[in-house]
Amino acid sequence: MKRILLGVTGGVAAYKSAELVRLLRKQGAEVQVVMTQSAMRFISPLTFQALSGNPVHTELLDADVENAMGHISLARWADALLIAPATANTLAKLAHGLADDLLSTLYLAATCSVYVAPAMNQAMWNKVVTQENMQAIRRHGVRVIGPEQGDQACGETGYGRMAEPSVICTQLLANDEVVSQLTHQCLIGHKVLISAGPTCEPLDPVRYLTNRSSGKMGYALANAALNAGAEVTLVSGPVALSAPIGVDLIKVTTAEDMYQAVMSKVTTHSIYIGAAAVADYSPVLSQSEKIKKQDEQLTLVLQKNKDILADVSARMDRPFTVGFAAETHDLENYARDKLTRKNLDMIAANWVGQEQGGFDSEQNALHVFWPGGDKSLPMTNKTLLAEQLIALIVEHIKVV
Ligand code: C5P
Repeated sequence: MKRILLGVTGGVAAYKSAELVRLLRKQGAEVQVVMTQSAMRFISPLTFQALSGNPVHTELLDADVENAMGHISLARWADALLIAPATANTLAKLAHGLADDLLSTLYLAATCSVYVAPAMNQAMWNKVVTQENMQAIRRHGVRVIGPEQGDQACGETGYGRMAEPSVICTQLLANDEVVSQLTHQCLIGHKVLISAGPTCEPLDPVRYLTNRSSGKMGYALANAALNAGAEVTLVSGPVALSAPIGVDLIKVTTAEDMYQAVMSKVTTHSIYIGAAAVADYSPVLSQSEKIKKQDEQLTLVLQKNKDILADVSARMDRPFTVGFAAETHDLENYARDKLTRKNLDMIAANWVGQEQGGFDSEQNALHVFWPGGDKSLPMTNKTLLAEQLIALIVEHIKVV
């Protein structure tokens, strides 16, 4: 059974943490709750006591010996410390090592994995100092879940909503092995280059050829690599996603743009993950004026684009090179063929065009192949899947 120490800080999202306790316990976890003074103004400790089945801890210097485990023994007890919601104030304290209440002291005393689920107004989240604090926290090995984009309690819209309890619960409990590997900052010192999303190949000023890639897998990989301590460059086609804080984002449109961007960066990176759905062909001519409707049939002449992945892996100074294979049939054969033909270190194959998973879905499953082995990563959310793939890459760069 996993022992979770849940820190609740003073944000309006504190009410969601009650549901979080319920979900964690339903999954078999034992939960103890620590609340800050301001959290108790949003929600009563009694709620958490009832839901966790344990007394709630609120004081650093607690005279009530029966309830007082002491911050050191409480920290030792936990398999994971999760702070949800984590306010800007608490995150700032974590970033700087302040320990002026029970929760911030516990954080310093904790040797287990630590997760935070930030929640705050979007302007507070976007403030430079908050982002600098987030970078510091990540560097210190804390794993960050969310925040999400959407409507906020204050009436504004943007990034800052706490991740949903179900998402937090899944990320926390799903894969202890991966979690412990990543929290050890196994990619410190590595620079990871990731391509993500679709490319758009213009036909004329108003039309283009593209595909259904959402970029979610590539962005999740960028996040997982950051969490593992890497410096990350993300070359992204047009997507409706915000890049994780701390990545160097290069926005591109066409396959040729993506090729140029990747090639200009590849020599300074130790790992390349080609998660983009690069157009295989683009129009020979992009018309400068809108193509008029005329004949019954219209023929487009397309030319093959350069293969970024193959060109990266053909370099003498190549990074550890990982490709993706999205297929509608004969997945394993095509994936193995690509692994050899493009001379890759690893390839992650997934079905597309299926009811669940693949393009534009929150979920996916991967079958990963490398020379001499393979591993199946079952259907789960892309955040978790990305962490598993990063963990596999870490295992293999060790032996390269
Ligand atoms: O050969 P195929 O396009 O199916 O291979 C998919 C893999 O190759 C993906 O990793 C994709 O990012 C990469 N790719 C590329 N450049 C292209 C086409 C695909 O890097 N022009």
